[in-house]
Amino acid sequence: MKEIRIFSPATVANVACGFDVLGFCLDTIGDEMVIRKTDHKGIRITKIEGYNLPYEAEQNVAGVSALAMYNDLQPDCGFEIEIYKRIKPGSGIGSSSASAAGSVFGMNVLLGQPLNKTQLTYFAMKGEALASQCEHADNLAPAIFGGFTLVKSVKPLQILELPTPTDLYATLIHPQIEIKTADSRAILPEAVPLQNAIIQWANVGSLVHALHTSDYDLIKDSLNDVIIERFRKQLIPHFDAVKTAVLKAGALGCAISGSGPSIFALSKSKATAKSVEEAMKNVYSKTDILFETYVSKINTEGIRVI
Ligand code: HSE
Repeated sequence: MKEIRIFSPATVANVACGFDVLGFCLDTIGDEMVIRKTDHKGIRITKIEGYNLPYEAEQNVAGVSALAMYNDLQPDCGFEIEIYKRIKPGSGIGSSSASAAGSVFGMNVLLGQPLNKTQLTYFAMKGEALASQCEHADNLAPAIFGGFTLVKSVKPLQILELPTPTDLYATLIHPQIEIKTADSRAILPEAVPLQNAIIQWANVGSLVHALHTSDYDLIKDSLNDVIIERFRKQLIPHFDAVKTAVLKAGALGCAISGSGPSIFALSKSKATAKSVEEAMKNVYSKTDILFETYVSKINTEGIRVI
């Protein structure tokens, strides 16, 4: 095989209480990429459609992760990468992760799968770091593994795959404003009050238990963030109004997706997820901010060859 086309999905990081550790994978939003083996050595980005991103491999997240893997494996060939970008950079749904993970996933398939998913995540983190100025894997892990994941540790890299309850659906609203991950990290405090930390880690533990037991009431009770949201919601117009409307419409929980500005909700059933989408639209259609909404089943497969 010399060439493959892949679907590299959008992802939701943090999942309310799990800042930098929890994430899940979406199904209806993602980039497409073509990865091609060549006789010329090296990594070349030969096509980018959708958004204006750098072609120099060293300045492109897909190129940086590809180079990290390429320099380590030193294969007897080169690779060309085409990126059909559909996830807007700075949207909070893992745009940079989709690119960073897609290139290494595709190269690995063409090389006969020498690396496992944790090793792919390790190289993809090098690309992610270019975008967010820190190596975090909470978008990359769900993109590569699918479903819900927990990044137990970054050094050494340890990723746990969590089960996905079958009736769970995500709804997202993406206000068309850009928030850079580096900026929304810069506004966070360095220390947190112990009382809040206790609430937060109890929520993470109970959310993990709820996913294992498909306990939707406990999912609802656990999807709360008492540490990060209060700072970041100031960057997202009408966040509180969306959250109130969404919970009234029956969502299990609602929070900022990754570093924002997208807001996600989880619901039990597609019908509720659709009602939640209407509730989100109602809030934002009264403003002059452009937006897009999505309803997605949780993608348990992750990146796939198409
Ligand atoms: N966990 C990261 C953050 C995700 O919230 O900053 C960035 O997409």
